[in-house]
Amino acid sequence: MNRNHDDLYDRKAAEYNWRGPEIIFGLAYPYINQGESILDMGIGTGLGSEPFAGAGLKVYGMDISEKMLDICRDKGFTWGLQKHDLRNIPYPYEYNAFHHALALSVFLIFEEIADIFKETGRIIRPGGIFGFTAEDIKPGQAVKYQLDPEDQSKEPDPDTAITVYRHSFDYIKDTLEKTGFELLKWIEFLAYQSPKRDKDIYYTAYLARKL
Ligand SMILES: C[S@@+](CC[C@H](N)C(=O)[O-])C[C@H]1O[C@@H](n2cnc3c(N)ncnc32)[C@H](O)[C@@H]1O
Repeated sequence: MNRNHDDLYDRKAAEYNWRGPEIIFGLAYPYINQGESILDMGIGTGLGSEPFAGAGLKVYGMDISEKMLDICRDKGFTWGLQKHDLRNIPYPYEYNAFHHALALSVFLIFEEIADIFKETGRIIRPGGIFGFTAEDIKPGQAVKYQLDPEDQSKEPDPDTAITVYRHSFDYIKDTLEKTGFELLKWIEFLAYQSPKRDKDIYYTAYLARKL
């Protein structure tokens, strides 16, 4: 394995105590088998799917960023990586191409995710699992907010901030059901632990099964 990649993203994730990968892997473990394939959508540097590779699954990935894909490729555990925008449907894979799919810390970028769920259902097999994270909408919280993409603990600078979206539990459950999935399990966890604990962000990890 070539470990000479730029590890800034991974270092930040460790600093923020990003435990999404272990949580999704733990939820998914009873439903996966060695030799099966899994597509990681918005794979980034591969943090979310590396545990699945460790369990003997064949990991494939898709991401909009060539740079992130290069870092991920350098880690040497993936079977195939594609540069692709998740908003661009159809995805470059055949019907039933994979057993399972993942999307960790990606849906914050999209307000509407029904089309992504539907397309995920096209490319994974019946019985396959779909593990992903989303930030729930708590009472009094807005659907969207601004975030500094480099440092979530900073006050967002209007010139560089990105808009991110929350998705309610009811919206996620309803959208899964309408797009051919059954929600199996979910759990809320601390996704971003801010240094002063004043800007902590909680996500919900979801595990769904394709019907
Ligand atoms: C916060 S990172 C999460 C990476 C990885 N899933 C993880 O858990 O560490 C979000 C990833 O989504 C990718 N991304 C952002 N917009 C995208 C889009 N429209 N289509 C595909 N990937 C996208 C980014 O390049 C980045 O790698």
